[in-house]
Amino acid sequence: MTMSTSIHGMWSSRFAFILAASGSAVGLGNIWRFPYTAGEYGGGAFVLVYLLCVAAIGIPIMMAEVMLGRRGRQSPINTMRTLAQAQQSPVFWQLVGWLGILSGFLILSFYSVVGGWTLAYTLYSGLGSFSGIDAEGSAQVFSALTNNPWQLLLWHSVFMVMIAGVVARGVASGLEQAVRFLMPALFVLLLAMVAYAATEPRAFVQGLDYMFRPDFAEFQGRAGEAILSAMGQAFFSLSLGMGAIMMYGSYLSSQASITQNVVIIAGMDTLVALLSGLAIFPIVLATGLEPGSGPGLIFQTLPIAFGQMPGGQLFAVVFFVLLLVAAWTSAISLLEPLTAWLVENRDWSRPVAAITGAVLIWLLGIACLLSLNVWSDVTLFGKGFFDLFDYLTSNVLLPVGGVLIAIFSGWVLSRHISVAELIGRDTLGYRIWRFLIRYISPLCVTIVFLNAIGLI
Ligand code: PFF
Repeated sequence: MTMSTSIHGMWSSRFAFILAASGSAVGLGNIWRFPYTAGEYGGGAFVLVYLLCVAAIGIPIMMAEVMLGRRGRQSPINTMRTLAQAQQSPVFWQLVGWLGILSGFLILSFYSVVGGWTLAYTLYSGLGSFSGIDAEGSAQVFSALTNNPWQLLLWHSVFMVMIAGVVARGVASGLEQAVRFLMPALFVLLLAMVAYAATEPRAFVQGLDYMFRPDFAEFQGRAGEAILSAMGQAFFSLSLGMGAIMMYGSYLSSQASITQNVVIIAGMDTLVALLSGLAIFPIVLATGLEPGSGPGLIFQTLPIAFGQMPGGQLFAVVFFVLLLVAAWTSAISLLEPLTAWLVENRDWSRPVAAITGAVLIWLLGIACLLSLNVWSDVTLFGKGFFDLFDYLTSNVLLPVGGVLIAIFSGWVLSRHISVAELIGRDTLGYRIWRFLIRYISPLCVTIVFLNAIGLI
């Protein structure tokens, strides 16, 4: 029953898959979300828990997602249904795909608003707005943007058009081209930012200390919440639990090694997150900013560095363009599963499917951007839409999706299929994967959930 290709197209090479999947993983989650979430929980201890989650839960689940996608070769809903049927299991498993569509919707609605910020900041950089700026000035630029619903709407709309444009063109011509050059460029630029941060050795050492010296006292009475957030950040950053990586796996050739590719992708993702922290925390600490100041953190700190460094204006433009690209290549993967499903089940053309999805998400995005200003007092569970969608997807929906994927791969899918897909032989490495996916991921996620809601 396995198909060797997908009706939506295939990656032109294994390298194209690595680029596209890292394009999905590396995004605002690494450069925008990681530093401010780590900052909220005091740095080092959070980073340590995050790294453990990536290694013990993230990598095995990413392998599982790629494996299921490649085996099913359809959108996550149909892939899960087909694979479940082949195992004589209930079609209930397609719920994983549906949950994924919901997560993609919610994530993209706020992600696109932040993508819009990067567009605005590219423009500000080009206009030289950051030259000589101090912490206060930088905070003002940011709040002037987020308090202005019309500006936010404009940038959010441009960003959504960019995403729909690529997804409408399809896998090979759209997605692949977008990531080929821009990912390596982003990497080089981040290294340059870290090198710049290192020119102030005192601040840099402080930054290193902040990020890598675990001080569990920082969790003070909120360890459950901190661990849940670190785990949620791992799911978000690796694009796991919603079928994006499953979708990309469905375009991967049957010959490519899943394990090797996944280790490369997760490694790059983690490296980019750590580099972002190293670029940002020295500035945060040196300028007396508050690491836990929330989603505005990088937008308020990096302009200070750009404003002071020689050639900072050009550097800033390049940086925000690359951040925009990183956001773009991730956002594409959020829209792809829904688009593929509409093409498969509704028989729509790809452009119609992509544009319909984008319009619906655009509408939901308006609620997110209004929650930053005119609707700031409309709250649900004590949070506005923007914060609520952010919290709910990373900390609840993605881990739930991830655990269902783990249980399906470890307990439902027959052993000989996972052996064949992952490695070909029943090796020690395979057994470790199977142990992690059957026991560790489901148990850890359950314990973290129960603990966070105060049941244990
Ligand atoms: N991994 C992306 C980032 O770090 O920005 C965000 C993301 C993309 C999350 C795709 C989930 C997803 F399915």
